[in-house]
Amino acid sequence: FVLEYSMGEFYSNIGRLNHIAIAVPNITKASDMWQKALGANVSKPQILPEHGVKVVFIESPNTKVELLEPLSESSPISKFLQKNPNGGMHHICYEVSDLKSASKKLKGVGATILGDGSPKIGAHGNPVIFLQPSDFSGTLIELEEIK
Ligand code: CO
Repeated sequence: FVLEYSMGEFYSNIGRLNHIAIAVPNITKASDMWQKALGANVSKPQILPEHGVKVVFIESPNTKVELLEPLSESSPISKFLQKNPNGGMHHICYEVSDLKSASKKLKGVGATILGDGSPKIGAHGNPVIFLQPSDFSGTLIELEEIK
C-alpha cells in the first residue's frame, strides 16, 4: 500500500471538529439528562427560526455537542426524528479555512454537496455546506468556514 499523495495534500481541507449535532424529540428532557447524569454545562435554549430548530450548546474541552429540537413538522430534522423517535446523531461538523477550495476538491472526487451546492449561512453565522451521507459511510457532514 503506497500513499499516493503528500501528507500536506492529505490534511489540507479538514480542520477541528466544531460540533456534533444530536436531534432530540424533547430538548428540555435531553438537556436535563446531560446536565444531571454527565454534569455537562448546558447553555440556555436558543430558537433559530431560519433553521427550524431550538438548540442548546454543550461545551466540552475539545468540541461541543448541539442538541436540536424541531420547531415544527417542516423542520429539516423532523423526518430524521420520525425515523429515530428517541433521537440520534444527526451530523458532525468540521471546520475548514476555505470552503471554496474544499468544494472544488469534493466535486473533483465526485462527492455530492447537498442542495444547490453553494454555501448557506449556518447556525453560527458562518458559511456552511452539507455533504451527501451516502458518500461518507451514512454520516451527514457539515463543513463550516472559520476564518
Ligand atoms: Co451543525
